[in-house]
Amino acid sequence: MISLRPARLPDEIEPLAAIDTSFITPYIYRVQHDDLTFRLIPEPVDPPRRKAFSIQDEPPDMVWDHTTVAVDGDRIVGMIAIVLSHWNRRAIVWHLYVDPAYRGQGIGRRLLEAATDYGRSQSMRCLALETSNLDYPAIQFYLRVGFTLSGFDETYYDLVDEFAIFLSRPL
Ligand SMILES: CC(C)(COP(=O)(O)OP(=O)(O)OC[C@H]1O[C@@H](n2cnc3c(N)ncnc32)[C@H](O)[C@@H]1OP(=O)(O)O)[C@@H](O)C(=O)NCCC(=O)NCCS
Repeated sequence: MISLRPARLPDEIEPLAAIDTSFITPYIYRVQHDDLTFRLIPEPVDPPRRKAFSIQDEPPDMVWDHTTVAVDGDRIVGMIAIVLSHWNRRAIVWHLYVDPAYRGQGIGRRLLEAATDYGRSQSMRCLALETSNLDYPAIQFYLRVGFTLSGFDETYYDLVDEFAIFLSRPL
């Protein structure tokens, strides 16, 4: 039985950082350019690519406005952290992770619903997020739960073959 509750921060930063955020993907997105037209094309990668995210890479002054955790008993098995962008009323999904053993059980969707409730309570217009072109699995998840593509930026990261994809969902 998985339940959701607000995170107790900063006390729970260590168990949050212990969530296995990694994914392995047999596809990544590439951009196909044609004058002023762009298309994001899934491309197979062999061997599959692996990537993990770290919540400890954050600048020390980073403050999330709202963090919800999914717990199995005493164990934190998922999290979503939201940062509010007040000037344009966007609730930004800063982190969303579910431990691999718990994926595919609706926990990611439930964490997004908690973020939706929070964003609405703060009079935000939409949920918005940035993810990597490598995170093909998460992009399938976001599309499935109602997000749409709002853009991409091939210069966003100081990395050779990785770029940012932006998605959003109205509140
Ligand atoms: C992305 C992530 C948070 C999704 O969490 P989850 O708990 O596995 O997702 P859910 O079980 O709530 O899935 C919700 C829906 O998305 C679909 N979905 C989830 N992952 C999918 C995938 N890889 N491919 C296609 N559909 C997927 C589910 O089938 C489900 O659809 P349904 O409700 O119609 O059956 C989780 O896979 C994860 O932590 N990934 C690694 C970290 C990561 O990439 N985070 C995002 C960084 S931007």
